[in-house]
Amino acid sequence: MNIQDIRAQFPILQEKVHGKPLVYLDNAATTQKPERVIDCITHYYKHLNSNIHRGVHFLSQEATQAWEDARAAAARFMGAGENEQVILTKGTTEAINLVASGYAQALLKPGDRVAVSVADHHSNFVTWQQACLRSGAEFRIIPTLPDGSLDLDALDKELKQGLKLLSIPHISNVLGIVNPIQEIIARAHRAGCRVMIDGAQGVAHVPVNVGDLDCDFYAWSGHKAYGPTGIGVLYGKRELLEALPPYQFGGEMIADVDFQQTTFAELPFKFEAGTPPIAEAIALKESLDFLSEIGFDALQKHESELITYAFNRLNEIDGMEIYGGLANRSGVVSFNIKDVYHYDAGVILDQLGIAVRTGHHCAQPLMRHLNIPGTLRCSFACYNTPSEVDALVEGVGKACSMLR
Ligand SMILES: Cc1ncc(COP(=O)(O)O)c(C=O)c1O
Repeated sequence: MNIQDIRAQFPILQEKVHGKPLVYLDNAATTQKPERVIDCITHYYKHLNSNIHRGVHFLSQEATQAWEDARAAAARFMGAGENEQVILTKGTTEAINLVASGYAQALLKPGDRVAVSVADHHSNFVTWQQACLRSGAEFRIIPTLPDGSLDLDALDKELKQGLKLLSIPHISNVLGIVNPIQEIIARAHRAGCRVMIDGAQGVAHVPVNVGDLDCDFYAWSGHKAYGPTGIGVLYGKRELLEALPPYQFGGEMIADVDFQQTTFAELPFKFEAGTPPIAEAIALKESLDFLSEIGFDALQKHESELITYAFNRLNEIDGMEIYGGLANRSGVVSFNIKDVYHYDAGVILDQLGIAVRTGHHCAQPLMRHLNIPGTLRCSFACYNTPSEVDALVEGVGKACSMLR
């Protein structure tokens, strides 16, 4: 993996911010896009633009084929057995809402129990909390241990008491801890509990094979994996997707519409009402090709070296508190510095051209659990370098001397 070759593929990395070279360390919010993904979107609008699944004309046929090729690419990328098990959505949030609202409407009843983890993004936490409120199911929360890992003993206790569904992140967007989801899924299944994985921080950092994992649902967003915004993926087991009612109604999701009744289309179309994000899906395939060409062996080696380096260098700073341990960590380091407010440090870093995230990271339950208002968070991608970590550490040092 030649880092300079990779960086050269990302036009935005040449930008200056406040007159300084951009150091982009907010990749958990969204990754930057390689030129081939940007070109793919332009190519679509210049040469292919047309609505899909509804035209006999050439452009519509071509666009439909490209859309279905994108679905097939997503299925291959995550090891889904059938293309029909891959629903193209707006993103992780919509994918989780699709499953949770279907469960609330048709599969959950009062007395059922649904669990999430305390380290969840609101996208998973709030969505299942609300599905429970609507259906009368009980909402359970699995805590994390001080090293950031999920408390598996607490999970076992919940499983013993009977859980209908567990929905947890593959990788926490605050703690960066990679949950041992294969083991968790096996334990849950032995107890008769279905498992949904929020893979928003997963697919761009670790290889995912939903067949091997045997998860019931897996959701992710294209924009966190070098693809465009507005496109995401939901994988589901066929029997579960078939049992879920449609999420939205409209064109393209019907089989037959009569005056009083409608029958719905087969999978996956039953869940894809209206005109979808066509250009975005086609460009998503390009981003998956980009990731596959780098390869997860090289990518994981590079990112784990960066994370270790960042973890150790940040720890040199007086008063540093990093949340979670270094073991099983991917992509993200969240931290606070004694007597420095995270937001103020983030503003100073921005003035130095360094983009990090500050705040609660859409994980207020975790902030309450840790008893803090927020953190600074740096998050890494394939194009980040050790010298960018040095720039961050130097910037944090400057912020400390200005703010303390
Ligand atoms: C763990 C996790 N889940 C879900 C989401 C929501 O993703 P999106 O906004 O793309 O739907 C995010 C976004 O940061 C995330 O980090």
